[in-house]
Amino acid sequence: MDLYEYQARDLFEQYEVPVLPGIIADTPEEVKAAAEKLGGVVVVKAQVKTGGRGKAGGVKVAKTPEEAYEAAQAILGLDIKGHIVKRVMVAGGARIAKEFYFSVLLDRANRSYLSLSSVEGGMEIEQLAVEKPEALARVEVDPLTGIDQAKALEIAQAAGFDADLAPKVAEVFVKLYNVYKGEDATLVEVNPLVQTEEGDIIALDGKVSLDDNASFRHPNHEALEDKSAADPLEAKAKQHDLNYVKLDGQVGIIGNGAGLVMSTLDVVAYAGEKHGGVKPANFLDIGGGASATVMAAGLDVILGDAQVKSVFVNVFGGITSCVAVAEGIVKALEILGDAATKPLVVRLDGNQVEEGRAILAGANHPLVTLASSMDEGADKAAELANA
Ligand SMILES: Nc1ncnc2c1ncn2[C@@H]1O[C@H](COP(=O)(O)OP(=O)(O)OP(=O)(O)O)[C@@H](O)[C@H]1O
Ligand SMILES: [Mg+2]
Repeated sequence: MDLYEYQARDLFEQYEVPVLPGIIADTPEEVKAAAEKLGGVVVVKAQVKTGGRGKAGGVKVAKTPEEAYEAAQAILGLDIKGHIVKRVMVAGGARIAKEFYFSVLLDRANRSYLSLSSVEGGMEIEQLAVEKPEALARVEVDPLTGIDQAKALEIAQAAGFDADLAPKVAEVFVKLYNVYKGEDATLVEVNPLVQTEEGDIIALDGKVSLDDNASFRHPNHEALEDKSAADPLEAKAKQHDLNYVKLDGQVGIIGNGAGLVMSTLDVVAYAGEKHGGVKPANFLDIGGGASATVMAAGLDVILGDAQVKSVFVNVFGGITSCVAVAEGIVKALEILGDAATKPLVVRLDGNQVEEGRAILAGANHPLVTLASSMDEGADKAAELANA
């Protein structure tokens, strides 16, 4: 889960990372009140989960509460790379002397942690990595020892911080690592980390991604989730504990096992080329059991997608018998009743396949077509979606 900047700021504050005060606001009036409360120069910042807000006009300096009101009018409702701004943060204004970059992240390829840092902050880091790779220090961080003051100094030196500044930024690196470790994050990024005219080091921006696999250790993380921003179908699937990802096509997909579902997506996309370019509408792995209730919940989610024109159920009975799957499909269609409105192509194979197919054939449901192979089923489902 990616956090909003204001949520990252709050976490930073808990871990004593130096930040400026920030107040969230949803209307220009609230922004004006926040600017009055903070006093002095403020910065009104769009709260969207994407970078490049500054360039898109989503970060504006305001010298008075009136200017903050106007900035809010300009920013609220702004479309930043497809994200509509509904909320802003009114932050204290910093007098920036220098901008730096720091991040610590999970380095999957090396099964380790990695810190990236640079004395050339402010610029987009992807751009810096391409144009001036020598200015970006990459220092591996051992997950067992983490970033203590000595390691942080090593990072600061690698990035080329002046000897007098290095111990001071190193202290902030340690605290940012504490956020990373303490919250089970996969990314903590500060761009820019600044030195102010007064000489203070402050995190002016924050990007934090939390590891959802560790959410059981952090009951407080659930409150950070933005339920209103979630796709409604994905939210519904989550309620049923289904592994569902909405895609942009017309053929709904249900399968068991992530590998089978992934290859089903490929086969359907390939078959779709012959049928008007239809594509898979989703990823849905119903896992091992494939009981009637799981099947019904899965079908219910997929049929709720207005873009779906046909559904391909592709199940391989391994430990699960095809009899249970076939009975699951028949009962699921009973449970759904009139809510089941789109043609279903079913391919079963594996354990007790003949018996399973016989159950489906016997049920003779008007929406169901049986396919004898994965390719045949994909082709039929694509054809139906294009009809
Ligand atoms: N509180 C602040 N006080 C003064 N200047 C600020 C403040 N917050 C941000 N800025 C300035 O605005 C710039 C962009 O802000 P920020 O980094 O938070 O947004 P961003 O989405 O990362 O934008 P970009 O991708 O364009 O850098 C910063 O590099 C900094 O110069
Ligand atoms: Mg930034």
